[in-house]
Amino acid sequence: MIQIDHVSKTFAGTQALADCTLTIDDGAFFVLIGPSGCGKSTLLRTINGLIAPDTGTIRVRGKDIATEDPERLRQSIGYVIQSVGLFPHWTVAANIAAVPQLMRWDKGKIARRVDEIVALLRIDPALLPRYPHQLSGGQRQRIGVARALAAGPDLILMDEPFSALDPVSRVELQAEMRRVHAESKTTIVMVTHDVGEALSLATTLAIMRAGRIIQIGTPAAVVGAPADDFVAQFLGGPERFLHLLDVLSVGAAMSAEPPSGAMPRIATSASLRAALSLMMAEGAQALAVGDGDGASVGTLRLDAIVAASHA
Ligand SMILES: Nc1ncnc2c1ncn2[C@@H]1O[C@H](COP(=O)(O)OP(=O)(O)O)[C@@H](O)[C@H]1O
Ligand SMILES: [Mg+2]
Repeated sequence: MIQIDHVSKTFAGTQALADCTLTIDDGAFFVLIGPSGCGKSTLLRTINGLIAPDTGTIRVRGKDIATEDPERLRQSIGYVIQSVGLFPHWTVAANIAAVPQLMRWDKGKIARRVDEIVALLRIDPALLPRYPHQLSGGQRQRIGVARALAAGPDLILMDEPFSALDPVSRVELQAEMRRVHAESKTTIVMVTHDVGEALSLATTLAIMRAGRIIQIGTPAAVVGAPADDFVAQFLGGPERFLHLLDVLSVGAAMSAEPPSGAMPRIATSASLRAALSLMMAEGAQALAVGDGDGASVGTLRLDAIVAASHA
């Protein structure tokens, strides 16, 4: 979907990007993470042409974006930022319809699409006639995501979209993004500085430092084998494995062996962190794994949790 090739950018003496090269595959949930000021937003904004690199090329869907019409490029890419940027004098419905309107879809098609998006993101239809100032922060951010998805782009860029939210809204919206990504196969490129968020959403993780890409890999690969001390420390030092347990599910580490005796029970879909916590609470080294109907489907052992965190 995206090829970034030897891209560098300097702002008035500050090198924001230093020879960045990376590929983002179709359907990836690609998360860029790194400390404040390392160049994450700059790199993201080169992808939709908001920032032109000094050197290097960027290809989106196989085409060098320097040769594309910037308006059309941006309309084809959803963009979500922390402060949302909803139009204050437009209703929620009009905000969601903004890009389809720009693209001159007919009225019926726009109305149908707004209905679809409202259902997809579980937006309360009572919000549609309201104005942005009549919404909570979490509701506003959800509408910002809806607006970015409205024209059905195959690529969405998100710059710290959930940083300003309370923990409950944040977890809810993370779950929505995971679901939308799984259902739509949209390619998502997201910037965050939150390690837990990055590990829990990414199919591929890229770690940046001082304008450079230091490491790219799956969350498990990066946590299991950090490229250097900086990466290991940034991901939480030895505790980075606990973040990873949040991401892995019981189903990924259980064996089909039938549980014996009165083992505590856990669901296949629970996280390995929840499983470890239950083992500690119950003083057990193995759990019975159950499906939704209460039948046992296997056993989860403590050593399998340890092994899974090194996959
Ligand atoms: N428009 C700009 N003018 C001058 N310096 C900038 C501009 N945008 C970013 N920078 C600088 O480039 C570096 C990277 O910024 P940014 O990409 O926003 O970092 P991040 O998103 O990782 O926090 C920082 O040192 C920042 O101060
Ligand atoms: Mg930033």
